Amino acid sequence: MKGISAIILAAGQGKRMKSALPKVAHLSLGKPVVWHVARAARAAGIREIVFVLGYGRDKVLPTVEAFGGKVAIQESQFGTGDAARCGLAEVSAGAKEIVVLCGDAPLIRPATIRALLAARRRTGAAASVLTGALDDPAGYGRIVRNPDGTVAKIVEEKDANAPTRKIREVNSGTYAFDRAFLERGLPRLSDVNAQREYYLTDLVQEALAQGNRVVPLISGDPDEVRGINSRRELAEATYILLRRKIEALMDSGVTFIDPERTYVETEVTIGQDSVIEPAVMLTGNTRIGRGVRIQTGCIVEDCTLGDGVHLKPYSVMAASRVRKNAILGPFSHLRPLADIGEGAHIGNFVEVKKSRIGKGSKANHLAYIGDAVVGRKVNVGAGTITCNYDGIAKHLTVLGDGVFVGSDTMLVAPVTVGKGALIGAGSTITQNVPAYALAISRAEQKISEYWVARRKPELLKKAGLSVPTVKTKGGK
Ligand code: UD1
Ligand code: CA
Repeated sequence: MKGISAIILAAGQGKRMKSALPKVAHLSLGKPVVWHVARAARAAGIREIVFVLGYGRDKVLPTVEAFGGKVAIQESQFGTGDAARCGLAEVSAGAKEIVVLCGDAPLIRPATIRALLAARRRTGAAASVLTGALDDPAGYGRIVRNPDGTVAKIVEEKDANAPTRKIREVNSGTYAFDRAFLERGLPRLSDVNAQREYYLTDLVQEALAQGNRVVPLISGDPDEVRGINSRRELAEATYILLRRKIEALMDSGVTFIDPERTYVETEVTIGQDSVIEPAVMLTGNTRIGRGVRIQTGCIVEDCTLGDGVHLKPYSVMAASRVRKNAILGPFSHLRPLADIGEGAHIGNFVEVKKSRIGKGSKANHLAYIGDAVVGRKVNVGAGTITCNYDGIAKHLTVLGDGVFVGSDTMLVAPVTVGKGALIGAGSTITQNVPAYALAISRAEQKISEYWVARRKPELLKKAGLSVPTVKTKGGK
């Protein structure tokens, strides 16, 4: 939408968080609190977003960059009115309407921002304000109404008398303003109040004094007005965002066996007909295809999973890719840059790091595959280890298509095994193996007949076996 800009107030410290991090930079469902506010503004169609920053501004800049926003600096926090004045100075000349949002209220919805803009336009008011009726309005500014339903004033909790405190309708801190009104009104605010701050909310009286008015829009969902001031409120807001996220995914065709006990961060996508079991955490920039099954206890961070992938219980993975129909777990571990091929199997207690596993290959039990390129249809036996680190540098292991690696093999990198080669179990491979060859490196097996019967008969007795009589050849 052209001609509309947003100002997000985010300069405060948030003392009640008891934190070195500014309040708006705390994470809620994997993203900074203020990120959710900016996303709502952008999704409402607002292109220009001005962030008013102050305390701990460096910690908020990544969010500003993520939205290509502008920054206004409020050096000292003299109140929301002062913050809005700082922000307005950065708004481009073309903007005729300004939406002001609180950086600490992440539950605001795009549709509500649009409705707030529409409410002001429809009535020709100086401003519209989003309000909510809360069972417990403590801490919020109260909406005092005129007989005609418009706002008479907004009274901060600290300035309110007992009857005013009983009002349950509160100010969300989200407004749509006529820009010209905002420009006239902000310089006229005073800081004569309980907190010695310039209150943005005092613009209500300013509008009335000009013969104009402020119209309230009551949110249908009182959660939307919630601001975060403490860690408890942060957890409550995160819980609400999580519910919304999981409900949206269910609406789009994803099954959650136990939606109350599943954690899915904001930007995760999941395709239709996928099934997510309880106690799963899907975080960061994770992309999940269709028909994927993720069993209990899995933790998936910044991964891409193709269609039909099956993660068996307690598989943990980060910054990796799993191609379609691959099966992992239980208890698999993918560290960054693992790339598991189509239909491959990675089984229990197998760790893969920075390695490409080809289509249809298998490493089913107890293995470490690091810095490797594994071809198609390779079988990596139980207990195989790529010895990729010499104490100084990491080295590459290459296994060609169709290689069979016997159990308990040490692949001392750098090393290349040609296609179709076979490695005998228990080998330590230190030299390249040509294609189609057998490589084996282990001591030959020796048999000493009846050695136990002769030398350790007590072991046989302990096991309940009778001790065979051994004909000794010669002396001993
Ligand atoms: C404000 C409103 C209150 C409303 C509530 C909703 C005022 C005077 N009060 O109160 O009516 O019910 O929000 O949550 O507006 N900020 C700055 N610079 C400042 C002061 C604040 O950028 O100088 C930012 C904060 O970082 C925060 C937002 O503005 O993101 C709200 O500030 P906060 O101090 O939390 O206001 P409340 O007391 O909650
Ligand atoms: Ca607040």
